[in-house]
Amino acid sequence: MDKPVIYADLNISRNAGLESSSPPSLPQNVCQGPPWHKFALKLCCAGIILLALTVIGLSVSVIFLRQKSTEKSSMDVQENRKETTERPVLLKCPTNWQLIGDKCLLFYDTYKPWNDSLADCFTKESRLLLIQDQEELSLIQNRIDKEAIMFWIGLNFTLPEKNWKWINGSFLNSNMLQITGDAKENSCVYITRTKITSEDCATENKWICQKELKPVKNKVCSAT
Ligand SMILES: *[C@@H]1O[C@H](CO)[C@@H](O)[C@H](O)[C@H]1NC(C)=O
Ligand SMILES: *[C@@H]1O[C@H](CO)[C@@H](O)[C@H](O)[C@H]1NC(C)=O
Ligand SMILES: *[C@@H]1O[C@H](CO)[C@@H](O)[C@H](O)[C@H]1NC(C)=O
Repeated sequence: MDKPVIYADLNISRNAGLESSSPPSLPQNVCQGPPWHKFALKLCCAGIILLALTVIGLSVSVIFLRQKSTEKSSMDVQENRKETTERPVLLKCPTNWQLIGDKCLLFYDTYKPWNDSLADCFTKESRLLLIQDQEELSLIQNRIDKEAIMFWIGLNFTLPEKNWKWINGSFLNSNMLQITGDAKENSCVYITRTKITSEDCATENKWICQKELKPVKNKVCSAT
C-alpha cells in the first residue's frame, strides 16, 4: 500500500518543480551563465595567448643562445689556432702533406717561377715555406733526397729596403741563414739538401708550401 503513495508524491513534486521552481530558475541560469562563460573563455584565451608567447619567446631565446654559443665556439677555435702557431698540441696534416717539426709541408714536383709558386700556395690555403731557425732548416733539408732538387721558399729580395724579406713581412736575420749568391733585384731564395741559394725569380724551380697546424680539438668541438 505504500508504493502508490510514493509514486503519487514523486509525480507531484516533479510536476511542481517543472512548473513552479524551474521556469524562474532557468532564465536565471541563462543570464548568469553567459557572463561566467565569457569570463572563463576570456581567461582561457588570455592563458593560451600567454602560453603561445612564452613558447615563442623561449624558442627564440634558445635559437639566439645556440647561435651565440656556436659563434663563441668558432671564436674559441680561432683562438686555438692562434695558440697552435706558437705551441701546437695535437695535429693532423691533410693527405699528401708531411708533418715536419710543427708544420705540414707539401713538396711540389713541378717547376714554376717564384711568383707562380707563391700564388699556388695561396690557392692551397697555405704559403711558401718560412724557415724559423737552423734546426727547422735541417729537418726539412733531410727530407730532400737528391742534392740537385731546388725548392723555392718564401724569401725574396725587396727593393726599397734592399734586403731579404720573408713573405710574412719580416726581414731575414742574416745570422740565422747564410744565403749564397747575389743579394740583388729580382732575386728569390731556394733551398737544396745542403744549401740556401739566391736566384733570379723567373727561374723555374720546385717549391714547398707550409700549412698552419690544426688542433684535433676542432673536430671534437664541431661534433658537439
Ligand atoms: C709571374 O710573373 C710573370 C712574369 O713577370 C707573369 O707573366 C705572371 O703572370 C706572374 N704570375 C703571377 C701569379 O702573378
Ligand atoms: C716571419 O717568418 C720568419 C721566418 O720563419 C720568422 O722568423 C718571423 O718571426 C716571422 N714574422 C712574423 C711577423 O710572424
Ligand atoms: C717579393 O715578394 C713580395 C711579396 O712578399 C712581392 O710583392 C714582390 O713583388 C716580390 N719581388 C719580386 C722581385 O718578385
